Amino acid sequence: MKITLNSPLDMHVHLRQDEMLRQVAPLSAEHFAGGVIMPNLVPPVNSVERLLWYTDEVRSAVAPHTFEPYMTLFFRNYTETELLAAKPHMLGIKLYPAGATTNSEAGVQEITAMDHMYSMMQELDIPLLVHGETHGFVMDREREFCEIYRYLAERYPRLRITMEHITTAESVRLLDEFENLHATVTLHHLVITLDDVVGGLMDPHLFCKPIAKRPEDRLALLEAALSAHPKLMLGSDSAPHPIDRKECPGCAAGVFTAPILLPLLAELYDRHGALDKLQAFVSNNAQRIYRITPPPKSVELERTPMTIPQRYGNVVPMWAGKEISWSVVSTTLP
Ligand code: NCD
Ligand code: ZN
Repeated sequence: MKITLNSPLDMHVHLRQDEMLRQVAPLSAEHFAGGVIMPNLVPPVNSVERLLWYTDEVRSAVAPHTFEPYMTLFFRNYTETELLAAKPHMLGIKLYPAGATTNSEAGVQEITAMDHMYSMMQELDIPLLVHGETHGFVMDREREFCEIYRYLAERYPRLRITMEHITTAESVRLLDEFENLHATVTLHHLVITLDDVVGGLMDPHLFCKPIAKRPEDRLALLEAALSAHPKLMLGSDSAPHPIDRKECPGCAAGVFTAPILLPLLAELYDRHGALDKLQAFVSNNAQRIYRITPPPKSVELERTPMTIPQRYGNVVPMWAGKEISWSVVSTTLP
């Protein structure tokens, strides 16, 4: 059994900087034709200068692979001049509520107090990518944030909004309420629940923001992904941290999945008899939603077992050591 995916895209990935960037970027670039690169560096990518600098860093880290980095700016109060200068070099702007996740201290304090920015982005047709969590009780943060998504989607009907890494059944339903709402979903939120993180022995390598939720949430996400819901895209939120930042008190949030995404997705879609829907989920939906044309790249996968490595450098991937039934056999450029 084989499948060929054309120009797979990872629409939400953390590539970091320096040594970590050089270590993880090639792993994404090997299997993907492009990806949306998150801006939560320290300090964040929050100026045109830093955007151009980071683009160069990413491009040199992925070379010689064919991989288009779709860059993002870290949301703050920008002037129209800054937005106009940044627009040709990015896909959109990523909004983090202050303190909601890793390296988000410089995020927005009061989301509904930034109307000036949303109107400018709407007028300039710059997509808004959102980490949608309030500061409420951890299991309720995304559900509570739905009100803010409604506020944004209603007031700015021409602003393209992406609900990043959705984890709840409510978020899936919200997608169908507003034409201008889209979403990414990670692989891990399709296959784990909170039980896998803390229900038995605690697994730090499955700890991330937003935290995995209930079985009924996973089911709603899975149904949407397996049916290739036209407003849903793969965004892995692959977020590497060195092993000593994961296996310690105060474990950093982030699951590392970049090198195993496509084999695990093929296994998942195969198990549910939905392999014919995988192309839309890993590329076509994103191309349509963001009006992008990634470089051509064919990735062939086969139902041949592989074992997930224990480590990639100093990073432990999700499900290290587990045997899975699919693997990538080749990637070809035209
Ligand atoms: C991400 C990271 O480590 O940068 N962590 C995570 O748990 N997902 C940040 C984020 O996307 O929330
Ligand atoms: Zn992320």
